[in-house]
Amino acid sequence: MTQTLTLRRPDDWHVHLRDGAMLADVVNHTARQFARAIVMPNLKPPVTTVEMGRAYRERILAAVDPSLDFTPLMVAYLTDTMDPEVMRRGKNEGVFTAAKLYPANATTNSSHGVTDIKNIHEVLDAMEDVGMPLLVHGEVTHKDVDIFDREAVFIDEVMVGLVKEHPNLKVVFEHITTQEAADFVTEAGENVAATITPHHLRYNRNAIFEGGIRPHYYCLPIAKREKHRLALRKAATSGSSKFFLGTDTAPHAVGAKESACGCAGVFNAPFAMESYALTFEEENALDQLEKFASINGPRFYGLPLNEGKMTLTKRDQLVPERITLSETDIIPFHAGETLGWSVS
Ligand code: DOR
Ligand code: ZN
Repeated sequence: MTQTLTLRRPDDWHVHLRDGAMLADVVNHTARQFARAIVMPNLKPPVTTVEMGRAYRERILAAVDPSLDFTPLMVAYLTDTMDPEVMRRGKNEGVFTAAKLYPANATTNSSHGVTDIKNIHEVLDAMEDVGMPLLVHGEVTHKDVDIFDREAVFIDEVMVGLVKEHPNLKVVFEHITTQEAADFVTEAGENVAATITPHHLRYNRNAIFEGGIRPHYYCLPIAKREKHRLALRKAATSGSSKFFLGTDTAPHAVGAKESACGCAGVFNAPFAMESYALTFEEENALDQLEKFASINGPRFYGLPLNEGKMTLTKRDQLVPERITLSETDIIPFHAGETLGWSVS
């Protein structure tokens, strides 16, 4: 008998849709699977004003296939000089759903990010006031901290103080990669949650170096040891309402990844739900997938659950080796693999 799984339509609480030609090429991969998505603001230049957020939303909507029902949720990019008024106006005018903290130079297009959390205290007060979630790229950036320790050190140096000083601020620890982060979120108050990507659930840091450098497995935060991957799988499938779906789909042209200085990011949008389904099936937790993908996120953000449905069928499908786009090709996550699930 064919096995099927029907869920409320899921949302993706962390995507990079880019801009220009790339936006048009990638957005429908997300819109086909997800009803809503939290859209990261790390464009060049970054999305730092209400006007920029509104204009970016319009460019996204213009690129979405009109037969798809998709709502982009916009995010402000925090800088050292962000005016707290942008948070209030962005929320009141229905433009910004959240704001993103990129520590300066932590990742792609983050050079305008925050150099010291002290610089944004008033912004955080305003967000706490209006109930706007803070989305955190949780890595320290000092050169003396090993790349594999940057998330754990960030918890001690920044996260602990942040949640203590802003006890009512909603905080999403984005794309967590460590046991330490999963434990921190589990033990924190109800106002602290985390997203988990499909790729951090499927491979550990060995994948990046297997027989040579494999740039398509490189992303930030970088994948960690196996014990951390296992902790993430446990957290995602635990049924805890604090963990929800955020793919961090981050497309880069094939040449920008396969380069002497390759970009960080995994393009997982085309088969995201199939990938999560495989992981939940392996963990004997398919009954928890709907909570993770479709319920915990909107509850945390205070948004309604989606009314539409998605059906996943246990049927093999081959992921293409590359996805040919109008301007440039991208290698998708799971390239060349056969996945045991298909979104129907
Ligand atoms: O791997 C990543 N890619 N991590 C990020 O934080 C940013 C993203 C991107 O924009 O390419
Ligand atoms: Zn991201």
